[in-house]
Amino acid sequence: MNSDIKTILLTREQLAKRVKELAQKISEDYRNKDCVLVSVLKGSFIFYADLVREIDFHTTINFLRVSSYGSGATSSAKITFKYPLDSKVEGKHVLVIEDIIDSGNTYVFLKKYFKDQGALSVSMCALLDKPERREVDISAEYVGFEIPNEFVVGYGLDYDEKYRNLPYIGVLKPEIYKK
Ligand code: IMP
Ligand code: MG
Repeated sequence: MNSDIKTILLTREQLAKRVKELAQKISEDYRNKDCVLVSVLKGSFIFYADLVREIDFHTTINFLRVSSYGSGATSSAKITFKYPLDSKVEGKHVLVIEDIIDSGNTYVFLKKYFKDQGALSVSMCALLDKPERREVDISAEYVGFEIPNEFVVGYGLDYDEKYRNLPYIGVLKPEIYKK
């Protein structure tokens, strides 16, 4: 698995330090608000688990799943729920936790969905941001790291459902997805 990685972009230590900083900021901003933290599966599962353990207010644990990428390495604006959120967001502040904001289409879709459900506010915390790839005019309110336009895996992020269990974030060798 490690031999499929071209370069390590973010080490375990860098990730842990930044997750702690993000959690501190989120804790300050949301401490006195009724906030629902929502993990977008599957990519954010490790980030979410690390983040919530650094969050200093009462929170419930919530998941949803959307499909946008399929198994390939290119985006598509067609987004549907594969697993909807099972808790109510009406009258609450929603913070969407994502592995990466890329085209921005997922965020646009979720923002509209939660607003329609009566959320007081909808914001996003994305561990990674690839601003070069944006197709819509939207940005995450909290970003861990801005990264260049390269396909990355690890720490939850996959290529074809693999590499999610790598403890760091790395750039996949292009020959892997050009096969
Ligand atoms: P969006 O294009 O902003 O809607 O992002 C959709 C999803 O694409 C993210 O949540 C990731 O699951 C996936 N994605 C985007 N870039 C990468 C990448 O470099 N590696 C792995 N998954 C990615
Ligand atoms: Mg994915």
